[in-house]
Amino acid sequence: MSTFLVTRTLPEDATEAALRADVLHGLNRTPKTLPPKWFYDAHGSELFEKITELPEYYPTRAEREILVARAAEIADATGARTLVELGSGSSDKTRHLLDALPALHTYVPVDVSESALTQAGQALIAEHPSLAVHALIADFTGGLTLPGTPGPRLVAFLGGTIGNLLPAERATFLASVRTLLSPGDALLLGTDLVKDESVLVDAYDDAAGVTAAFNKNVLSVVNRELGADFDPDDFAHVALWDAEEEWIEMRLRARSRLTVKIPALDLAVDFAAGEELRTEVSAKFREDGVRGEMAAAGLEMTHWWTDEEGRFALSLSMAR
Ligand SMILES: C[S@@+](CC[C@H](N)C(=O)[O-])C[C@H]1O[C@@H](n2cnc3c(N)ncnc32)[C@H](O)[C@@H]1O
Repeated sequence: MSTFLVTRTLPEDATEAALRADVLHGLNRTPKTLPPKWFYDAHGSELFEKITELPEYYPTRAEREILVARAAEIADATGARTLVELGSGSSDKTRHLLDALPALHTYVPVDVSESALTQAGQALIAEHPSLAVHALIADFTGGLTLPGTPGPRLVAFLGGTIGNLLPAERATFLASVRTLLSPGDALLLGTDLVKDESVLVDAYDDAAGVTAAFNKNVLSVVNRELGADFDPDDFAHVALWDAEEEWIEMRLRARSRLTVKIPALDLAVDFAAGEELRTEVSAKFREDGVRGEMAAAGLEMTHWWTDEEGRFALSLSMAR
């Protein structure tokens, strides 16, 4: 019999406190920034799903191609009985893994988006009658405590989401993931790869404007949760490639000089005309870099697979 359990690891007011702290800190500094996790309310999660279907947004298709081709090898190499997925979203591509892992007992999707977890979990237990699904509403950067489930444990972090962490944050995050693993457990990591600038920029600035709407959704979240008066039309969506850092940045550029009031923080924030608020970085990777970051976290990268066109990589790293 399948089971579906959702656990909130932090009380709801802790989430609001975290948003307040991020807005206060991020909008009072130069340049202004907000962390990308605040895109993902129910509407933001829906917009992200639309992004994954856009012609310009190749990462989802490329990663799915690798999963389809390599799921059996991943199953053989890990023998996983518990699959933990960080930033699981719709868990759509994960189905290829769930279908391929013969010994799987429990799936633990972890996400800040309660709506995404609930929808995905309900669909999955209908499709997998013997699977236990234990969803965690949690921030994967916040020191996770996982339920006690049978090993070996495979932690999956797909979609290139690791690229949203800055290099120092990534090192801290990977070290914390390592503490979730015992010898013989593994990390399956999806990383988007460095490539032609125009392909990268188009993936974050699609012709239909879905990514622009996703980017501006963070303003709607701050309006709703903190009573702010951002007008999303006052901002232009910007996606640019930083060749030195090898990351894409998404920004929101003020179309004119303006002031935004945020009553819950008793704050008024001035934007100069053309001033930009950074909402996301999305780092792109190379094989040697990923291998090195894994080693620094105490993990040994044993497999590196790319799609046919070499756009995206999945790597498997073992805890020894
Ligand atoms: C780029 S989407 C990827 C979704 C899915 N894994 C895929 O590959 O299509 C990032 C996902 O991570 C979640 N997320 C972002 N930051 C998070 C955080 N700090 N803690 C937990 N989940 C987070 C979002 O809600 C979203 O579902």
